[in-house]
Amino acid sequence: MLEFPEGFLWGTATAAHQIEGGNFNNDWWDWEHNPDSGCVEPSGDACDSFHRWREDVDLVADLGLGAYRFSLEWSRIEPAEGEWSIAALDHYRRICAACHGRGIQPVVTFHHFTTPRWLAARGGWEAPDAPERFARFVERATAHLGDLVGRACTINEPNVIGVMGYNLGAFPPGVKRDVSRQIAVNEAMVRSHRLAVDALRSGPGTFPIGMTLSMAELVAGEGGEEARDAAQEILEDSFLTATGGDDFIGVQCYTRMRFGPKGRLLPPEEGVAVTQMGYEFWPQVVEHTVRRAAQVTGLPVLVTENGIGTDDDTKRIEYVREGLKGVHRCIGDGVDVRGYFAWSLLDNFEWALGYGPTFGLVAVDRTTFERRPKPSAFWFGKVASTNTLESVTSDGS
Ligand code: NOJ
Repeated sequence: MLEFPEGFLWGTATAAHQIEGGNFNNDWWDWEHNPDSGCVEPSGDACDSFHRWREDVDLVADLGLGAYRFSLEWSRIEPAEGEWSIAALDHYRRICAACHGRGIQPVVTFHHFTTPRWLAARGGWEAPDAPERFARFVERATAHLGDLVGRACTINEPNVIGVMGYNLGAFPPGVKRDVSRQIAVNEAMVRSHRLAVDALRSGPGTFPIGMTLSMAELVAGEGGEEARDAAQEILEDSFLTATGGDDFIGVQCYTRMRFGPKGRLLPPEEGVAVTQMGYEFWPQVVEHTVRRAAQVTGLPVLVTENGIGTDDDTKRIEYVREGLKGVHRCIGDGVDVRGYFAWSLLDNFEWALGYGPTFGLVAVDRTTFERRPKPSAFWFGKVASTNTLESVTSDGS
């Protein structure tokens, strides 16, 4: 039986575009409808969480979790440049208030992959004033709901925006293998993060602030050290070293990546199971990345996302359990880990892959939007409410 420290934060995470539905005013909506983008389907109504958010908050509370991480949709709050929607701000304020009402900490992400159309039309993160425009949005949103924010994540996976949008071409604007543009966007993201931290601190409320970074266990096979180190620098270290003065670092991790003399080694190693994402089933990634993030940044760590795309819910329990054992080992060694958030509360829109991969603790009927918690939801809820692992069996009894 593994006990976690008192006050350890147990939560689950979502993102606006993946669950709200009808986010037609951002760059992703455009991208999903572009026949050349490679997206398998549009987000459409998603989980209709724009209307059903109260059910979502209730689910989190009923499962016994202590925190709900969700994101603000910038394109709803600032639908045209410099034009603010009080109604949209009120909407997110109500979600924060409902979290408090149910004893849950609202963990608010200010940017989760989507950018308003008006900024995308001016070059998105390549527009020279993008960081200032983002900071102005953060400042405005914080002024409206900062007193209710429990914890703030500035930008979700700022490293993924560059790699997916300017190298792999799977996210807007769909540019392939342009490393200099990727690096320029990375720099814009870092600057945006820094300005956002200042904006968050200027408003009402005092809450911990951090960036959430996509991390992996980056492994060098024979002769792969150079490629691994280069990947580590562009994907992780250039961001981890820009967190000075922050209150925490959010680690988001799913798998490992292997490198050989010519770069990334694909496909996954023989004998290692593969998830719906094509990732290696690699729960060891949690311990590895938590240690690394703590070591490089010196900051307290929260695992702000970890989970698995699978249609076998017993695998989800196995994956999360193994990851949590790693977190527990880190804590035992004195690493300051403050919380763990399962990705995701709901089966939702997995970006270019549409609704195929299912990461949710809770299934969502694609026609009625009915939410049905899976056994893993009850299992995870019990881990959270007892603050211990292994004292519960896989079926939550
Ligand atoms: C990280 C992203 O933040 C989230 O949007 C995505 O759904 C998960 N990884 C799973 O791929």
